[in-house]
Parts: sequence; C-alpha cells; structure tokens
Amino acid sequence: MSRAARLTLVFILVVALLPSVLLTGCSSPVEPTAGEPAATEPATTEQPASDSPEAALVKQKCTMCHTLDRVDSADYDEAGWTATVERMEKNGLVISADEKATIIQYLSNR
Ligand code: HEC
Repeated sequence: MSRAARLTLVFILVVALLPSVLLTGCSSPVEPTAGEPAATEPATTEQPASDSPEAALVKQKCTMCHTLDRVDSADYDEAGWTATVERMEKNGLVISADEKATIIQYLSNR
C-alpha cells in the first residue's frame, strides 16, 4: 500500500468513525431516576386530643352560644367546671346528666 493510499484509508476511517465517536462521546448519558426518594406520607396514626369523643361532645354541646375559645381559655377544677356548666344550663344549655359528668371530668382533667 502506498503512503498516499494509507493516508487516504486513515482519513476515511477517521471521517467514518468521527461522527459516531462524537455522538456517543457528547450525548450525555441518561441519569437513572431510581435515586429519587419515594414520596412518603408522614405517619399520622396518633389521634389528636381534639378528636377524642369527649372533645367532640364539648364541641357539640358548648359551641351553640359561643366558640370553643371560651371553653379552651378557661381553666377550672372539677368544682369550677361543675359551677360553670350549671350556669350554662341556666343560660339555656340542654345536657343529660351523663354528658354533664363526662364534660366536667374531661374539662377538669385536660
Ligand atoms: C345556651 C347557650 C350556651 C351554651 C350551650 C353554653 N354556654 Fe357557655 N356561656 C354562655 C353565655 C351566655 C356565657 C357568658 C355569660 C356567662 O358567663 O354565664 C358563657 C360563658 C362561658 C364561659 C366563660 C365564663 C366562665 O365562667 O369562665 C365558659 C368557660 C363557658 N361558657 C363554658 C361552656 C361550656 C363548657 C359549655 C358546654 C358544656 C357551654 N359553655 C355551653 C352560654 C352558653
């Protein structure tokens, strides 16, 4: 093979291979998306205190005339809550003896 023929062959090889070398060399590899952290829901198994049946009863019985703020901002002992709930009955609260006892217990122990 003459020197010119060898050069031509090398030239052809380079020209033929260059595009594929450039393409594979420059095309950025696709990043695997497996590394993304899976969206996990925060565990909310614990029931907030405001969802207890007693809290629901207070909400039901004590928010007809005023908001829960009124109840939440008061801090009495059992005697204090008994007096307060009995005054609420005079205000017009309708409540059974059971519900009254439950609410007084709940509010004085919270
Ligand atoms: C029929 C309407 C009515 C209902 C139902 C009612 N309240 Fe009241 N509440 C009032 C009124 C009127 C006042 C303001 C006058 C007063 O203090 O008596 C008041 C005020 C209060 C206060 C603030 C005064 C204080 O003594 O600290 C608290 C606490 C309270 N209520 C708790 C309760 C609770 C607990 C319940 C549910 C068991 C309840 N209320 C249900 C009418 C009501």
